[in-house]
Amino acid sequence: MYSFITEELERIRASGLKRAMKAVEGPQGPTITVDAMECVLLCSNDYLGLANHPAVKEAAKKAIDRWGFGSGASRLVSGNMAPHAELEERIRRFKGTEAALLFNSGYQANIGLISALSDRATDIFSDRLNHASIVDACRLSLASVKRYPNRDAGSLERLLKKSTARHKLIVTDGVFSMDGSIAPLKEIAGLLDRYNALLIVDDAHSTGVLGKTGRGTLEHLGVEHPSIVHMGTLGKALGSFGAFIAGSDSLIELLISKARPFIYTTALPPSAAAASIAAIDIIEREPGLREKLWANVEFFKQNLPVGINTLGSPTQIIPIVLGDASRTMEASKNLLERGVFIQGIRPPTVPEKTSRLRVTVTAALEREELKKALDAIKEELIR
Ligand SMILES: Cc1ncc(COP(=O)(O)O)c(C=O)c1O
Repeated sequence: MYSFITEELERIRASGLKRAMKAVEGPQGPTITVDAMECVLLCSNDYLGLANHPAVKEAAKKAIDRWGFGSGASRLVSGNMAPHAELEERIRRFKGTEAALLFNSGYQANIGLISALSDRATDIFSDRLNHASIVDACRLSLASVKRYPNRDAGSLERLLKKSTARHKLIVTDGVFSMDGSIAPLKEIAGLLDRYNALLIVDDAHSTGVLGKTGRGTLEHLGVEHPSIVHMGTLGKALGSFGAFIAGSDSLIELLISKARPFIYTTALPPSAAAASIAAIDIIEREPGLREKLWANVEFFKQNLPVGINTLGSPTQIIPIVLGDASRTMEASKNLLERGVFIQGIRPPTVPEKTSRLRVTVTAALEREELKKALDAIKEELIR
């Protein structure tokens, strides 16, 4: 075998970071069958339980009958169908921006957006705990990248002050995917005019979830500014697939002509777009789903055993930090044997010595399931 492959595999295995997939049977829901074990699901990003919602599935099925399955080509060739445009219009209205553009995933949206918005005369200011797709996007851009300590608007301002770059781009997760913490967007937005900077907020984990109407972190914090670009995913709280960028008309025009992950890829299946439209309908029509989610989050946090380090997360992403990578994977395995699925997260996804069980609470869970999970967590962690 090509020696690089075996050497790399051995290196990963020796550092205890070899990854493997678990076989999941059946749709996402409060319980799921994993490796033939039925268990309570506490690590899905299907925060509102829409991935298996009858209306979402029905919309996708109808779209398949009307449009077929594949889109056949990129949006700029012959793959641009009515459900794509209709979904963009719905996202534009939902986010309250001039325009929106679909991407095939959040990963691709960040790569496309950040590389389209930077050149050699750009400094990118990126939070140290930003998602891997942002880290990779920064690497691919021609910009000089300055990383600032997590959620530290003071350090960010010091970097901005020092920068002599012609263009300044700030990028942050709205809700940090592994910590569940919320970016200080009010403070960051306060820097935009002073330093003539543009801010990108990655709302992958808050679209549909945070804010009075589910618009995301900016709505939750009451922040508005014309120099903010919204990024969000459709594969998490919307229970569908794909992602979007929402912002000004001119931004979207630029992305259509410059964002390579938009230009050089086959368009989303129209049924995925139709499913997302149905999910937005539900999010707009049924605020009770969000209320149930936050009640579940509150119940779970209130009943966690004392002494567990959740980093004070205020959201539905609740890390249980154990530190050691092998102990974390062992705890995850033991919990699965007790009928509770919580995936362990290790470096490089999280910093060294901060391995954790990443709990995600969803609206699909009932109290009995949460109680079962809490009991198992107590038994496993409080010895
Ligand atoms: C903060 C953040 N941004 C972007 C992404 C990528 O989104 P997607 O899963 O749609 O590629 C994720 C998801 O893993 C994420 O957590």
